[in-house]
Amino acid sequence: MRYLVTGGAGFVGSNLVRRLEADGHDVTVIDDLSSGHFKNLVGFRGDFYAEDISRMDLVSVFAGRPAFDAVFHQASITDTTVMDQRFMMERNVEGFRRVIDYALRHTLPVVYASSAGVYGANPSPQTETQTPAPMNVYGFSKAVLDNVAAQAAKGYSRTIVGLRYFNVFGPGEDFKGAAASMIYQLYRQMKAGKAPRIFKWGEQGRDFVYVGDVVEANILALSSRRSGSFNVGSGSFTTFNTLVDTIRESLKLDLKTDYFDNPYDFYQEHTHADIRAAGEAFGYSPKTTVVEGIREYVRILESRGR
Ligand SMILES: NC(=O)c1ccc[n+]([C@@H]2O[C@H](COP(=O)([O-])OP(=O)(O)OC[C@H]3O[C@@H](n4cnc5c(N)ncnc54)[C@H](O)[C@@H]3O)[C@@H](O)[C@H]2O)c1
Repeated sequence: MRYLVTGGAGFVGSNLVRRLEADGHDVTVIDDLSSGHFKNLVGFRGDFYAEDISRMDLVSVFAGRPAFDAVFHQASITDTTVMDQRFMMERNVEGFRRVIDYALRHTLPVVYASSAGVYGANPSPQTETQTPAPMNVYGFSKAVLDNVAAQAAKGYSRTIVGLRYFNVFGPGEDFKGAAASMIYQLYRQMKAGKAPRIFKWGEQGRDFVYVGDVVEANILALSSRRSGSFNVGSGSFTTFNTLVDTIRESLKLDLKTDYFDNPYDFYQEHTHADIRAAGEAFGYSPKTTVVEGIREYVRILESRGR
């Protein structure tokens, strides 16, 4: 198969590209390298377009070439602290619109990255039937992607599947800086000999999901029975204390946790994905528990260090 992966030099995208190539497929990547890095793709065998997807005319760029079999769209501004609303909306929504226009013209299935950020302060467990209530323009841009996809999917003969990733962690996050997962940040703190810092008293938590399961969800979503936006998490809730304990134990370090006051007026204390819809539509069932995922991830980070 021939696949197009936007955002393929990023964290999730590069893990997906590796998996698709390992499965014997041809992959073309579009990535403007705004938060991705070529080092994520060392060993990549395909073609690469260093373009901003929100300005790229995919139809003419790929004219005369054999059409792709599907598009995986991961490209996005991923730093949720970016407050420039117009910039966020242009890049994320216009980029997606161009992908949809191209896919519809060639009748291709699309799998795209949405986000748990669409839920905002909705109570746990987060389910797809809840009304999106994003707390920042990043989450709003993803909610609009879901709206655009729902419109495009009406009467379309192929599927358009949005995956609302929860908190993804795993190899390939190194270039995300402050936007990398909390697990990566805590690992870095502890490796530097610093006490892991979390809000008092560490019982807040998230649905953390290992990147291998997110890649699997993308591949399974290609054969989804229906279009729609689906939660992709581990389906479990993990406290910040558990993250710290697991990393500490994996690193065999004796660093006491430094608890500090949460400075935010509003803070989402609890996320937990209801993943039944993705299971029903395309058989998604995460394979790696969060604790196993952290142990494997720390092993990989440590082996690189050596
Ligand atoms: N990592 C998570 O926890 C998480 C959670 C929810 C949703 N997501 C979504 O998953 C997708 C992948 O995120 P990630 O964690 O791998 O982040 P990432 O920043 O590593 O990957 C995004 C990639 O898209 C590229 N990109 C950004 N804007 C572009 C544009 N206009 N044109 C072309 N390329 C562009 C970046 O250079 C980068 O390589 C994103 O859509 C993100 O919003 C991620």
